[in-house]
Amino acid sequence: MNAAVLLAGLVAAQSPERILIDTDPGDFTDDNIALVMCVRSPERVSILGVTAVAGNVWAPHGAASARRTLRLLGQNTPVHLGAQQPLVHTREMSQREGPLDFAGAFATPKPGSRRETAVEFMIRTLEREPEGVTLLAIGPLTNVARVLQQRPDLAAKVRRLVIMGGNVYVPGNASKAAEFNFWFDPEAARIVLRSGIPKNILFGLDICNKVVLTREIFESVVRRLTPITRLYRDSFGNGFPGFYKNPNATGFLWDELAAAYLIDPAFVTRSETRYLDVETTFGPRYGATLPLNAPPAPGATAVEVMLDADVDRVVNLYRKLLTQTQS
Ligand code: RIB
Ligand code: CA
Repeated sequence: MNAAVLLAGLVAAQSPERILIDTDPGDFTDDNIALVMCVRSPERVSILGVTAVAGNVWAPHGAASARRTLRLLGQNTPVHLGAQQPLVHTREMSQREGPLDFAGAFATPKPGSRRETAVEFMIRTLEREPEGVTLLAIGPLTNVARVLQQRPDLAAKVRRLVIMGGNVYVPGNASKAAEFNFWFDPEAARIVLRSGIPKNILFGLDICNKVVLTREIFESVVRRLTPITRLYRDSFGNGFPGFYKNPNATGFLWDELAAAYLIDPAFVTRSETRYLDVETTFGPRYGATLPLNAPPAPGATAVEVMLDADVDRVVNLYRKLLTQTQS
């Protein structure tokens, strides 16, 4: 091998991973923190764009929130408005599902639709990137499913898909059976898990339940006040999980774990490879993750399901990136 080829290989090995972030940020939630973590890790990830999907909040609200966070971080990354509702699931259906732990955007009526550009932008980006793109999907999978429906050939251009969603061996957090992102749009999650995307990595509740956000961690972040930690203080102190209202409250790191994986994958201490599918029959198990021993559809790829974490390691990374003083 000549020196030029060797050098090109070394540069490629060290260059940041080119990613698209598909997200549903509320006013300042785990999605926003995942954005902060990625923006503040330029040696690991280069963000080509951000797309908003309906989930925690309706998509126009999420897009505005992502823009606000990026502006605070001094970034002019493009933010595209994506799917404004799931493929099939509706607010009216969710109201027939009995008591839910969390209904996200379905708690309020959907605002009027606006022009969506996210799916078009994702397709264009996947087409033009010669080495493909990594997708960090931390909301319901509607946008990703719509890309795959329109252009199944582009599955091959997804270098890896890192998902926050699903619950393989543990109960749900939206309904008893289902995790919120999969529950909000089960049909989309099913399309994605049945696709031929070469590498799927899942941060579901199995691993997220192990990384508990305590008041002590919260206090250690808000001790250092910056424009970002002020937003964090208001949101996590007064909103969910509400550390100011209840000192014993706890939350979890969800989207932050998926983002952390792109920055320091060594915090994952146990995983397994399984085929997965999603329950799409409307009823109490709507949106549940189904582990399988065989592919759910011809050509479906298996998923690396993350199961356990070095909690101190990932919490230290979370705290360090959140409390950084420069953007
Ligand atoms: O279940 C956790 C997921 O739903 C996260 O993506 C979070 O943002 C929430 O709403
Ligand atoms: Ca999210």
